[in-house]
Amino acid sequence: MYYASQKAFPEGFLWGASTSAYQAEGAWDQDGKSPSIIDMYEHPKQYADFKSASDHYHRYKEDIRLFAEMGLKAYRFSVAWTRILPDGTGRVNQAGIRHYHDVIQECRKYGIEPIVTMYHFDLPYCLEEKGGWGSRETVEAFVEYARVLFTNYGGEVTYWLTINEQNTMILHPGAIGLPKDGKIPSKKELYQQNHHLMLAQARAMKLCHELCPEGRIGPALNLTAMYPETCRPEDSIAAHNWEVIRCWNFADVPVFGWYHPLAWRYLQDRELAPEIKEGDKECLAGARPDFMAMNYYSTATIAASRGDASDVSARAGDQQIMLGEEGVYRAAENPYVAKTKYGWVIDPSGFRYTLRKVYERYHLPILITENGIGAPDRLENGQVHDNYRIDFIRQHLSAMRLAITDGVEVIGYCPWAALDVVSTHQGYQKRYGFLYVDRDEFDLKEMRRIKKDSYFWYQKVIADNGASL
Ligand code: BG6
Repeated sequence: MYYASQKAFPEGFLWGASTSAYQAEGAWDQDGKSPSIIDMYEHPKQYADFKSASDHYHRYKEDIRLFAEMGLKAYRFSVAWTRILPDGTGRVNQAGIRHYHDVIQECRKYGIEPIVTMYHFDLPYCLEEKGGWGSRETVEAFVEYARVLFTNYGGEVTYWLTINEQNTMILHPGAIGLPKDGKIPSKKELYQQNHHLMLAQARAMKLCHELCPEGRIGPALNLTAMYPETCRPEDSIAAHNWEVIRCWNFADVPVFGWYHPLAWRYLQDRELAPEIKEGDKECLAGARPDFMAMNYYSTATIAASRGDASDVSARAGDQQIMLGEEGVYRAAENPYVAKTKYGWVIDPSGFRYTLRKVYERYHLPILITENGIGAPDRLENGQVHDNYRIDFIRQHLSAMRLAITDGVEVIGYCPWAALDVVSTHQGYQKRYGFLYVDRDEFDLKEMRRIKKDSYFWYQKVIADNGASL
């Protein structure tokens, strides 16, 4: 749709950027932190592990000062549960409490709004050993952890994100990492874990509303619209199947209090439906998120299932992510979109389309908590010329502005990432940050922070509230 004039980005728009604890902090065993599942997962030998990462744990003051100089109005980071409760429950580690208190205060010093993710893939390993998300005990542990966070930081934090990309954890468990024995749980087990995550999330949301009257809390899912490969009706049905199973089934539960009807039928029919105990339905109902946080990278294009094993294939450039399911959908190519070096589809219009769908479905303000392009950035004569990142973000911001003009309520944009962090699969070969972190896969060097071209560009965008895009 064309408009005579476009809406401006709202006043007080949260121009931000994101990181997560295990990818940025390092200091994996310091100041009382216990190992998380990420620390214990088997890691590809050719890439950096998460032990030192970008040393944000020690350098957060310098980093936040640089974020402030870039003009950031918000900084989205995650708290490592293993720093707060090293045993998963019980004993509170005061060094961990102090650390995030200091990070929050440092943000506030520069007028940066802290946006806190409570859980970004890094379950305490001691809880994993007791059954992890397959156990209801972990729900209790998460609620205890949530209480510690809200009690300690409730007065200083307004924006809370419960769980990062629950849908990625459940649908593509190999993408995050593999347990030591290399076994991925069965689908049945994963959907039971999913149910427990949903219960944990619902209870955390309710607790947040009880303990933090000023707090606003929402889930952070990876959401993406699907296109049918052709106008063949069966392709549209398949695209809808996967859009529901991948996205709406995860977002409906926190907002509407129950699973999407189509997804629930799919789960029942395949005997994947989780065990529901007395009180679960009441627990899920009434969680009432205040906003929907959304990570957006790309769209997918979908064709009807052929009904055989040829439906399943690895996502282009990423052997860890298998797409397609017999009798449900098959991944197809889209000739109208570009791709990153790593095979991820680049689709700014798809961003507008996804935003419309999310808003139409949930009528909640939307906070973008990830969006960005991974690339093998090069440091040349002390500079990083990442024009591809500028292009990517400019196009996505323009599409987002069109979505705002369409009537979608977007309250902030926090691209991935504030600074270079360890990529889940490609270490430091694949970088996303506005700040270059000068280290290699194994040579930590001095980890100097260097402003990329995109840093200066984003600084200007923020300074005029996106008017010059
Ligand atoms: C998101 C995750 O799915 O994608 C981040 O929330 C992750 O933790 C990001 O880093 C980019 O993925 P990757 O594999 O390129 O690091």
